[in-house]
Amino acid sequence: MQLQGKKIVLGVTGSIAAYKAAMLVRLLVKEGAEVQVVMTGSAREFITPLTLSTLSGRPVLSEFFSSASGEWNSHVELGLWADAMIVAPATASTIGKMASGIADNLLVTTYLSMKAPVFVAPAMDLDMFAHPSTQRNLDILRSYGNTIIEPASGELASHLSGKGRMEEPCNIVSLLKDFFFADSPLAGKKILITAGPTYEKIDPVRFIGNYSSGKMGFAIARECAVQGAEVTLVSGPVALGTPHPAIKRVDVESAMQMHDVVVGQFPECDAAILCAAVADYRPAVQAYEKIKRTSDNMSIELEANPDIAACLGRMKSEKQLLAGFALETNDAESNARHKLQKKNLDFIVLNSLEDKGAGFAVDTNKVTIIDKEGATRYPLKSKSEVAHDIVSHLSKLLLMFLLFIMPLSIEAQELNATVTLNTSKIQGTNTEAFNLLKNALTEFINNQKWTGYNYEENERIACNFTFIVDSYSDDGAFTCTLMVQSTRPIFGTTYSSVLFKYEDKGIRFNYVPYDRLEFNEDNLDNNLTAVVAFYAYTIIGMDMDSMGEFGGNELLNKALNIANNAQNLGDSGWRAGSSENNRYTIIDDYMNGSMQPLRQLMYRYHRLGLDTMFKGADAGRKIITECITLLKEAYENKPLAYITKLFTEYKQEELVNIYSNEGGGDEKKAVVGILSEISPSLSNSWDKILKSAL
Ligand code: PMT
Repeated sequence: MQLQGKKIVLGVTGSIAAYKAAMLVRLLVKEGAEVQVVMTGSAREFITPLTLSTLSGRPVLSEFFSSASGEWNSHVELGLWADAMIVAPATASTIGKMASGIADNLLVTTYLSMKAPVFVAPAMDLDMFAHPSTQRNLDILRSYGNTIIEPASGELASHLSGKGRMEEPCNIVSLLKDFFFADSPLAGKKILITAGPTYEKIDPVRFIGNYSSGKMGFAIARECAVQGAEVTLVSGPVALGTPHPAIKRVDVESAMQMHDVVVGQFPECDAAILCAAVADYRPAVQAYEKIKRTSDNMSIELEANPDIAACLGRMKSEKQLLAGFALETNDAESNARHKLQKKNLDFIVLNSLEDKGAGFAVDTNKVTIIDKEGATRYPLKSKSEVAHDIVSHLSKLLLMFLLFIMPLSIEAQELNATVTLNTSKIQGTNTEAFNLLKNALTEFINNQKWTGYNYEENERIACNFTFIVDSYSDDGAFTCTLMVQSTRPIFGTTYSSVLFKYEDKGIRFNYVPYDRLEFNEDNLDNNLTAVVAFYAYTIIGMDMDSMGEFGGNELLNKALNIANNAQNLGDSGWRAGSSENNRYTIIDDYMNGSMQPLRQLMYRYHRLGLDTMFKGADAGRKIITECITLLKEAYENKPLAYITKLFTEYKQEELVNIYSNEGGGDEKKAVVGILSEISPSLSNSWDKILKSAL
C-alpha cells in the first residue's frame, strides 16, 4: 500500500491499449491510491466507463457537464486535487493536443489545469510513434516538465512489430512509486512506533492508567507511512482507528506486554519513535476477583515496570536510530536532556504540560526537539504538523547516517569472527540471555574499529571465538572457557594456516541481557570486553607480524597494556608472575626480547615458507626448517616460556603434513629433535614425521 492516500487523475484516450487502463486502475487502487478516471469520447469506444468506475470506486468523468445532473465537472478542481496525473494510453492525437493546448475535451483541459506532475504513456503504431510530428510533440511535453513513459517494443494492434506498445501497468505503478518516494530517506525503512497509554491491572475492573489518547503517536505513524516507511505501531488501549492501511498495528494493554512486543520487533527496525505514555509501575499483585471495600484506607504495593526506551537504548546498534518523548511538568529542558542521555536516545521530543494546548488528548502540541547538536523549539501546531516536524528530523538524521556513518563502519572490520556459545554443560535454559550475549559478542568483535587501518573484505582475519559456558546464574554471572583461534589463507591456495590458538579457562564476567558491550582501554571494568579486546589485538598483532617482520608491534603492545592494566580485575587469567600459564604470560613472553626469534619466525614461516612451498615445495620447506631453528633459539632463550610450546601445539598438524611428505631423513630427524624438546607430550605427532624418514 505504498501509494496510500495519493490522489491520481488517470486520463484514458482512444487506443486499443485502453484495456490496460483497467489493470492500471486496479493496481493503483490496490496500492492505496484514490483514482479519478477522465476519459476522452473516443476512449469510451474501447473500454466502458462502467468498468473503470467500478474499479476506481468513483464515477468516470468525460464531459464538461454531467449529463445526469447538469453539474459542471471542474477540471480546475481536479488540477488542484491530484498528486499526479497519468495519461495512459496516450494517443498521438491527445499528445498533439496537450503539446499545442487544444482544449476541446475534459482530459486536455484537466491537463492544462494540472498543478501536479504529469506522466504520459504513449500507445500507437510504430510509424506513428516514430513520426517527427509525434516526436516533436513528445519533446514539447518533456520541455513542459512532463515525464514520457517510453513505449515498449513488441507486436502492435496493427500486427506490425516495433516500438509503440504502451508500457505495462505494473511498470507504470513502479515508476510512480519511485517518483513519490525516491527522495524520501524513509522509503523502505522499517520504523517502530509506540503510542497511547498502558493500563496496569489492579483487579478485573480497575487499572492504573493515564490520559494519553494515542493521537500524537498515531499521527507520527501515519506520517512515516505516508513517506514510504514500513511502520509497526504498538499501541496501548486507545479509541483510534489505524491511521494508514500500510501500518502493521499491534495492540497491547500493559507496559510488560508493550515491552515484549517492542523488544522483539526492534532488531528488525531502522528506527523507533517511542511516544507511548508507559506506566513506570504496576501493582505487585493483580487480584483475580474484584477487590471489595473492607476499610476506609487501602494501599496497593507497586513494582517497577521495565523502562522500554532504556532497554532499546542498550540494544541499539550503530545502524539504528532511537527517539523518545519527554512529558514534563517542570524543569522541562534539563529533565529532557537527562532522559536523552540516560536512555541513549538520538533525539527526544519534549512536550510540557505547562504549555496550553500541549500534551495529552488535545489535537495540538507544542514541542522542542533536542539532540546532541542542540534544541529546536516549535510553536503550537496540530499534532499532524508536529508529526511532520518530528519525522523530518528523523529523516535528516537517517540521511546523515547514510552519508557519514555507514561508510565508516564498513571499513572498520579487521576481524571476521564467528562467535559460538556452547551451553551444553549447564542446567536449565535461559536461551534468551545466551542468544543476546552471542549476538552482542558477534557485533562487538566484528564492528569494533580495532586499528586505524582500512581492511578490505578479503583482508579480514577469519577467527572463531567459542565460549563454553561452565556456569551461569540468573543474576548474569558467567564462568566460561574460551577457545580462540585465528587462521589465514596461504596465498594462492585453498589452504589456511592457524596463526593463533588458545584455550582460556575460567573466565568470569557478568552479562545482563541488552547490556551494550563496550571497551575502553582506560577503564577495564568489564572482564568480558577486556578479554575479547585482548584477543582481538593479539590476533591482529600476530597477523601483522606474519605479514611483515615485527609488523604487529603497535597492536601487540595494546594487548600487553590491557594485560598489565587488568591486574586488578581479579580474574586468574590476568595474573602476572603466576606459575601457571595464562593470557598474561602469553603476551608478556611474546613481547619479551628473548622471543625475538619467534617473532621473526612468524613472518618467515608464513610468508617465505608456506607461501613459497606452494610455488615450489622444496624451497619453501627449507625456509620452514630454518624457522624451526629460530624456534629452538627462542626456546633456549627462555625455556619456560609457554608461547613456544603453544606454537608447536597449534602447528603440529601442519608440521606433520609438511614433513611427512617432503624433506630428507636427516632434516626430519633434526626438526623432530627440536620439536620433541619443546613439546615432548606431542610425541605421537612427531613420531609420524620420524616414521616418514625411514
Ligand atoms: O497520546 P496523546 O494524548 O496524543 O498524548 C501524547 C503524549 C503526551 C502522551 C506524548 O506526546 C508524550 O509525551 N509521550 C511520552 C510520555 C511519557 O511517558 O513521557 P516520560 O517522560 O515519562 O518518558 C520518557 C520516554 O521514555 C518516553 O519516550 C516513554 O515512551 C519512554 N518510557 C517511559 C517509561 C517506561 N517505563 N518505558 C518507556 O519506554
